[in-house]
Amino acid sequence: MPTKIEKDAISGQETTGHEWDGIKELNTPLPKWWLYTFYATIAFSLVYVVLYPAIPSFSGHTPGVLGYNSRVAVEERLAEARARQAEFWDAIAAAELSEIAAEPARLNFALTGGAAAFADNCAPCHGQGGAGRPGGFPVLADDAWIWGGALDDIHTTLLHGIRNGGDEARDSEMPAYADILEPAQIEAVADYVLSLSGAEHDGAGATAGQEIYADNCAACHGEAGEGLRELGGPRLNDQIWLYGGSRDEVIRQIRQPRMGVMPGWQDRLDASTIKMLTVYVHSLGGGEE
Ligand code: HEC
Ligand code: HEC
Repeated sequence: MPTKIEKDAISGQETTGHEWDGIKELNTPLPKWWLYTFYATIAFSLVYVVLYPAIPSFSGHTPGVLGYNSRVAVEERLAEARARQAEFWDAIAAAELSEIAAEPARLNFALTGGAAAFADNCAPCHGQGGAGRPGGFPVLADDAWIWGGALDDIHTTLLHGIRNGGDEARDSEMPAYADILEPAQIEAVADYVLSLSGAEHDGAGATAGQEIYADNCAACHGEAGEGLRELGGPRLNDQIWLYGGSRDEVIRQIRQPRMGVMPGWQDRLDASTIKMLTVYVHSLGGGEE
């Protein structure tokens, strides 16, 4: 191939001297700014490879002369954050539940930590912010409590859970009345239950159901359906239902109660986190003295 460098007649630019079938290749150099940037990146990468961890090998990677390690850096930053929080963790661990609210900064820390732990552990069942879920997962942001809404009540519920087979778990079992009462009696007592909260019901049925209720149900749900916390019998004379307040739902619950289960958290979360959760749940709206 002839290599003759000459000026291109039309563009005035030099050719590289390469020519194929009369077509000549113009010599168009890279822009200077681009070229120097390119060289700079090469120089940077060489310096980087020497200073920092870079080239992978079978047994790890080259460590770099600075000894930097991003995992160590993250750990250091976490340790720093923990040290900054330590004061608060210690305060929560040392304080009685009732004392946590006395100090605004401590209360704030407990509420923030409690909200985070709630989102991780409780929201799947109880909904965001304790809004509750249909199917037996009670609202925690109202002032209706099955087992009690004082700090100590909530704390006990959290530590041991409900009907999970644990020795100290809150426990109670409503009998399945499908095996005990006649279907007509179940309908009657359901109408009586509905009448307690002023819901739509069959008047004659409710009258017949009153005595059945007094004999079978009042022991756990209270004479007037006001509920009984010692036995976890929910209040029946309000509009708040675990499983729904339609006549069918009430009959279903009387025939075959579902008995909600909640795990205990004592072995899953540390004591301070459970305290913070207690304070958080108590603050959601219905905390009792
Ligand atoms: C697997 C589902 C589940 C999870 C997870 C769960 N709960 Fe529960 N929780 C329940 C059920 C079901 C009940 C109602 C039990 C009953 O019928 O008495 C309940 C009841 C409660 C009660 C008692 C409410 C009352 O009215 O007395 C509190 C307080 C509570 N949960 C807080 C929490 C907190 C805080 C967490 C997270 C640490 C949590 N729960 C996680 C299912 C769950
Ligand atoms: C041994 C105690 C006990 C007795 C007796 C009992 N209950 Fe219950 N009842 C409970 C408990 C505990 C629950 C909550 C079940 C749960 O959390 O899953 C409940 C729940 C209910 C509910 C659902 C409440 C809701 O909010 O959705 C209804 C309705 C009900 N009972 C009606 C009755 C009627 C009617 C009788 C009598 C025929 C009766 N119960 C007898 C303990 C009892």
